[in-house]
Amino acid sequence: MLSTFWQVWIMAIVFGSMIACGLLILYVSKGQRKDETTSETTGHTYDGIEELNNPLPRWWVIMFWGTIVYGFLYIGAYGLGNFDGLLTVKVDGEDVTWTSTNQWKAEVQAFEEEIAPLYAGYLATPIAELAKNEDALQTGQRLFKSNCSVCHGTNAMGAQGFPNLTDNDWLWGGTPESIKHTLMYGRQAAMPAWGTTLGDEGIADMTEYVRSLSGLDHDAEAAEKAAPKFQMLCMACHGADGKGNQLVGAPNLTDEIWLYGGSTKQIKFTLRNGRNGKMPAQADILGEDKVHVLSAYVYSLSNGE
Ligand code: HEC
Ligand code: HEC
Repeated sequence: MLSTFWQVWIMAIVFGSMIACGLLILYVSKGQRKDETTSETTGHTYDGIEELNNPLPRWWVIMFWGTIVYGFLYIGAYGLGNFDGLLTVKVDGEDVTWTSTNQWKAEVQAFEEEIAPLYAGYLATPIAELAKNEDALQTGQRLFKSNCSVCHGTNAMGAQGFPNLTDNDWLWGGTPESIKHTLMYGRQAAMPAWGTTLGDEGIADMTEYVRSLSGLDHDAEAAEKAAPKFQMLCMACHGADGKGNQLVGAPNLTDEIWLYGGSTKQIKFTLRNGRNGKMPAQADILGEDKVHVLSAYVYSLSNGE
């Protein structure tokens, strides 16, 4: 809301200049008949060329008046300062003042109404079945590119800290239900930091043990020292065999797939500082119907064409 002062200020400037323009046109056309021509000059001469003092052509004058009238109509429609204008658009079934935001809302709503039956049909289809529907997958891919690719990459192959969604190796589970749960409610991983518990040497030994789990080069003696500690500290989440636990999003440490990297340096960093990967919940952002289609798309990435 503008204060009265600024409202009056703006109106004075806008209407004042419009009226001034009108007066200027009247003044310039004064005493001249539109169809009269004259040999009287304005007194301006350039390189011997003189300017005749003829009236403005009639179409030209009409155009000037036209812009002034247009200005008033425009203000009437779109408003000025605190005056909102008379144009309205329909948002949530109600007529509201035109603003660019409201028009955008109205267009989005109109579009969503149009595609609602399509999404309703998708939502009623089980995810595994929907994953065979080419049209649904294309919609899913489009949704993925605009909502997920910033983190998981346009090809869904992920990056360090962002899981690859195409490899059928899952932190939280790859069934249609788990994928949809992941998308709807998000996931928060909690890998504790072990720096203080294990100390530098303990971390180094444990790193060797972790590398041994997936058959990477390692110092067998150090790994052996850490083995009992793994059973004590890590088993609860990663399992006695290190194969992980999808209930808490603990990765399988025996495969070649690393979320944060499998080099000695990267594993040490993970162990010393912990990791807290977070997948943001989509239920409130996208709604269940879009999440459902996205789940089918994600499911399709690692479950055949
Ligand atoms: C802000 C970054 C970010 C965005 C945006 C994001 N994700 Fe994630 N997502 C993550 C992270 C990080 C994880 C891993 C969480 C963890 O460490 O357990 C994850 C995990 C997942 C998983 C679980 C993978 C598994 O192995 O269990 C799926 C499925 C997934 N995301 C799909 C999506 C989809 C589909 C979208 C788009 C709607 C999306 N993500 C958007 C960051 C993101
Ligand atoms: C409370 C459960 C929990 C405990 C206990 C735990 N972890 Fe983890 N660990 C996780 C979770 C969850 C992740 C995934 C973190 C993420 O997604 O951000 C993880 C990730 C890791 C990773 C990274 C794997 C990758 O692919 O980059 C390593 C390595 C690891 N843990 C080793 C250990 C070791 C060794 C111990 C014991 C000293 C241990 N963890 C104890 C839950 C646990």
